[in-house]
Amino acid sequence: MLNLVSLLAVFIASGVYADQVLLPPKQQCNKIAGKHWVSPQEARACMSEMTFNKKTQANVLDVITRTMAFHASTNYQLQAPKPYDEDVHWDLLSDLEEIRTRDYASDFDFHLEVQKSMKRVNDGHLMYANWCYDGVYITYNPFPLVLLTNTTEQIQNVYISPIAHDISSSVFGSEVAFWEDLLGEPLERFSGARVVLINGEDPFSAVNANAKLTGRFQGLSSRQNAFFSSSTRGTTDWHYVLGDFAELVHPVVDSISLTIQRVGSISEETITVPYRSKFNRQEHFTGLSDYQKKFCTPTKDTNGHHLYQLWSNDTQEALHSSIHTADMKPTSVVLPQTLQPNLPPLRGSNGAIQLHVLEDNTGILVIGSFEGEKGEEEIKCSLLEGLQTMHAMGVEKLIIDLTNNAGGYVCVAQFLHRLLMGEIDDTHPQPGLDTTMRVTPVAQRIVKNMLLRDPQELTIYNREWYNATNYPIDLQDEDWFRPINTTINGRHDSFSQRLGKECDVSFSSCGGRRKRLPTDPFFKSENLVLLSNGRCGSSCALFSVLLAKKQGVTTVVTGGISDVPQQYCGYIGGESVRFSDIDTALITTGLKTRTTPYQSDVPPPLEVNAAMTVTWRLAYGVHDPSQPEEWQDHTATIDFPLTADTVNKPQAVWEAVSLQVFSTPPALQVQV
Ligand SMILES: *[C@@H]1O[C@H](CO)[C@@H](O)[C@H](O)[C@H]1NC(C)=O
Ligand SMILES: *[C@@H]1O[C@H](CO)[C@@H](O)[C@H](O)[C@H]1NC(C)=O
Ligand SMILES: *[C@@H]1O[C@H](CO)[C@@H](O)[C@H](O)[C@H]1NC(C)=O
Ligand SMILES: *[C@@H]1O[C@H](CO)[C@@H](O)[C@H](O)[C@H]1NC(C)=O
Repeated sequence: MLNLVSLLAVFIASGVYADQVLLPPKQQCNKIAGKHWVSPQEARACMSEMTFNKKTQANVLDVITRTMAFHASTNYQLQAPKPYDEDVHWDLLSDLEEIRTRDYASDFDFHLEVQKSMKRVNDGHLMYANWCYDGVYITYNPFPLVLLTNTTEQIQNVYISPIAHDISSSVFGSEVAFWEDLLGEPLERFSGARVVLINGEDPFSAVNANAKLTGRFQGLSSRQNAFFSSSTRGTTDWHYVLGDFAELVHPVVDSISLTIQRVGSISEETITVPYRSKFNRQEHFTGLSDYQKKFCTPTKDTNGHHLYQLWSNDTQEALHSSIHTADMKPTSVVLPQTLQPNLPPLRGSNGAIQLHVLEDNTGILVIGSFEGEKGEEEIKCSLLEGLQTMHAMGVEKLIIDLTNNAGGYVCVAQFLHRLLMGEIDDTHPQPGLDTTMRVTPVAQRIVKNMLLRDPQELTIYNREWYNATNYPIDLQDEDWFRPINTTINGRHDSFSQRLGKECDVSFSSCGGRRKRLPTDPFFKSENLVLLSNGRCGSSCALFSVLLAKKQGVTTVVTGGISDVPQQYCGYIGGESVRFSDIDTALITTGLKTRTTPYQSDVPPPLEVNAAMTVTWRLAYGVHDPSQPEEWQDHTATIDFPLTADTVNKPQAVWEAVSLQVFSTPPALQVQV
């Protein structure tokens, strides 16, 4: 049985689909319709039935490349400076033009190629997802991996998660039997085994191969950490994140060979573990044409629309939601009860914001996300109330756990900076970083037309910058958007003047009452710690950079590979916007109509069910304000190794970090 699985994998790799020999063409989606679990090759065969078509290829590439004109980082990403010089160096536009000249076996193959190319810039704000393929089937391995450190010997090894079994039963349900039948024994017998080889090679080769493809973070360490399982606070619960090894967005890997050494054994053995693909949408399909209709056709949100006709009102909320990066890994598995914190949440805890106090009186503020279901004001109130509760309890030290926080509202990040630090030069009148936008001819036409065609100031370029304290802008004068020419990596580029800090954070409006924030700090900066696995992006990165670089707050990154410096965050906000928001600005300002031809730099209507985001505002640095913060160093103060006692256990990590960072040795105390 095991041999058959690996044999099949070889066939797939050489492009011969075993199943296609037996079935007439275009039966693959029909064959798996209604099934919840299938083999990756079955899911892949179905997706490969979407025919490659030159017209669709041209449409997708036109939309992506013309939207890239709004991506402020385009020329910077040709070659990033140190410490990212080896990580970010990709001519995306040239590669996309190269892709345009090629033919593909299927539209799915074309999509994989486009997405792979875009991920190579390692930017969590530059994303392209096609919901016809991405996450339709999530492909799982039952053995999520962890990286554990033997702290006495200073040795790191890869292990099958000690709780792999608990996770398997909750994610896979009765499908566990598939793997158990194949492996000939219960999955729990593998929990905690050391992984000696992956596909016959050192496990760190697999970690680094994945780091090349996984995208999102500039820093190598954060991309390496994606391979392993971790935990995160969701809006309703603690979640277990399986990691890139055990969870794939596409059904592209059939099986993997693992050489393992089980707990208590001295001998090694090699097992072949197949992946399985789980259907991941609310509603199933009945066959190929139904699949295409349900998942592949554009929806009303794919493209933009006119803000002063028809649906004008329901889009305003979305337009002002600031940074939001769609996370393409949709699985959420509840962290087993035994691993969840068992401290009572304090007053103020709400959704992804949780507050606790440890036995040693260190406060814990968990921020799983800077946005929530209840909106910006509610999160701010939660933070204010939580910190007031801690203050009343006499808590003087605080660990802020930002593990896997992918961002949210920019103004919440800045509000928390102001709240923690009180009214100081860095937070008053407004905290944050200056930003800049890219000026291209198409963006200039939007700004010019906006004066006349967007009287209610609803499109993306029409924002609150006239309130920005340091660089007030008169939006009624289009000259604010005149190009400032520069050369980046040898290419001509143009940016807007600096945009100031637009968030008014000196007030809270809890319970409808507008009140000035306390002017005193809640904590001394030396009593604060930012904790994460490095996978902190967008508003989370903005918040971390402000505290770490302006206030010198200690940063701690857990679980990384010891010979690589850990970066405490990546893809700084800035601000990302969606293609659909840019499209809305083009339509509303009359640059794109259904009846008259538009200019060749305007993206055409997207004809597939896809979404794209770009970095629309780039934030200037703290240490070097002449350059973007995006590619400046974010090396953590402390690399914190995980052990079997702390891995996937948030509270155990907090206690250990509190002990390490806050307990000053008595000898030092005497000197003071
Ligand atoms: C660390 O390694 C040493 C030597 O191999 C071993 O004796 C010890 O039990 C290990 N510690 C842990 C926590 O695994
Ligand atoms: C939009 O909302 C405003 C006020 O909230 C209302 O007066 C207007 O009629 C609405 N427009 C549409 C098209 O629903
Ligand atoms: C921004 O400035 C305008 C014009 O001065 C003012 O009406 C508005 O209330 C300000 N908004 C904020 C959020 O401060
Ligand atoms: C900036 O560059 C544009 C495009 O190349 C050019 O038309 C313009 O004259 C330049 N402006 C200045 C001030 O050099």
